[in-house]
Amino acid sequence: MINPPYYASDNRYENGMEYERCGRSGLLLPRISLGLWHNFGDVNTLDNSRKMLHFAFDNGITCFDLANNYGPSYGSAEETFGRVMKSSFMPYRDEMVITTKAGHDMWPGPYGNWGSRKYLFASLHQSLSRMNLEYVDIFYSHRFDPETPMEETLQALVDIVRQGKALYVGISQWPYEASQFAYDYLKEHDTPCLIYQGRYNMIDRDKEREGIVRQAAENGVGFTAFSPLEQGILTDRYLNGIPEGSRASVGKFLKPEMITPRLVGKLKELNSIAGKRGQTLAEMALAWLLKDNSVTSVIVGSSSVNQLKDSLGALRNTAFSREELDDIDRIILS
Ligand SMILES: NC(=O)c1ccc[n+]([C@@H]2O[C@H](COP(=O)([O-])OP(=O)(O)OC[C@H]3O[C@@H](n4cnc5c(N)ncnc54)[C@H](OP(=O)(O)O)[C@@H]3O)[C@@H](O)[C@H]2O)c1
Repeated sequence: MINPPYYASDNRYENGMEYERCGRSGLLLPRISLGLWHNFGDVNTLDNSRKMLHFAFDNGITCFDLANNYGPSYGSAEETFGRVMKSSFMPYRDEMVITTKAGHDMWPGPYGNWGSRKYLFASLHQSLSRMNLEYVDIFYSHRFDPETPMEETLQALVDIVRQGKALYVGISQWPYEASQFAYDYLKEHDTPCLIYQGRYNMIDRDKEREGIVRQAAENGVGFTAFSPLEQGILTDRYLNGIPEGSRASVGKFLKPEMITPRLVGKLKELNSIAGKRGQTLAEMALAWLLKDNSVTSVIVGSSSVNQLKDSLGALRNTAFSREELDDIDRIILS
């Protein structure tokens, strides 16, 4: 059977999505973005990937977060996105913020990893071709490279923007001192850093502790939180064991031994706070990140349309009482 043509929902900007200015820039980002790290590779069914992408855009998610090596196999999430771009998203390209990154292991040999100019340019060219795009909206250095001079990585980002291959640039998981160097360098070269992408959620607060969230704001840089649901831990997914097909059951990035009885006990307590707020645990975990504007957007992952629907519900209530915040901290930090 041939798939029917895709027409985006006429209500896509009236379904409750909110948009937040990204740092000191002209770009507004949806408070919830969709990440394609898992569940969009060539090991997954195209039909499910397509349904999630359509559902996201129909509900105001305008930002799609990719990287060269998302899959598996490497590159295949970009290929999936490229197929959907060609078959249904192309008329809506200008309504989207599409990102990609380079910095992690991608291809063999000395030019397929880290932060050299050689790697960043080659990787971006490949990403554009896989995604059927002329440019990406945001290109990230995926990680700090302690061996390549920072000036080389950052100048590559500047030149990528000057060549029109990306509209904005960002950094991901760079440490504090290096981030400050990057913000200063990029600003001095007329390509201000748009955004910092870091791991941040109710359980993992390293970016807050290290001052990186505050540093981004002080430099007029947006902050986007990845793994906002701690890879699914901060949802009802593991409240009653490890379901087949879940990320923890596969055990590559989320190991089954991480789902300890102690953790599940805490999750049940958090779930009961969420219930009193009229939310699911996933909704509360995302709302917690969105409670103020220190986080511009959260990048959720999803393996089904229903999960995405659940995550979108977070925007209905992002206000917390002092007591709720204290209770959450007591449970998590004890
Ligand atoms: N810059 C970086 O270095 C970096 C690193 C990692 C991720 N990221 C970005 O961040 C994105 C999100 O990361 P992530 O996938 O770890 O995020 P996440 O939102 O913390 O976890 C997503 C997983 O949680 C489960 N889930 C989601 N919604 C659920 C719901 N409502 N109920 C129950 N379970 C639910 C699903 O697990 P199941 O698959 O088990 O169903 C889903 O795959 C990535 O796609 C990527 O774009 C960036």
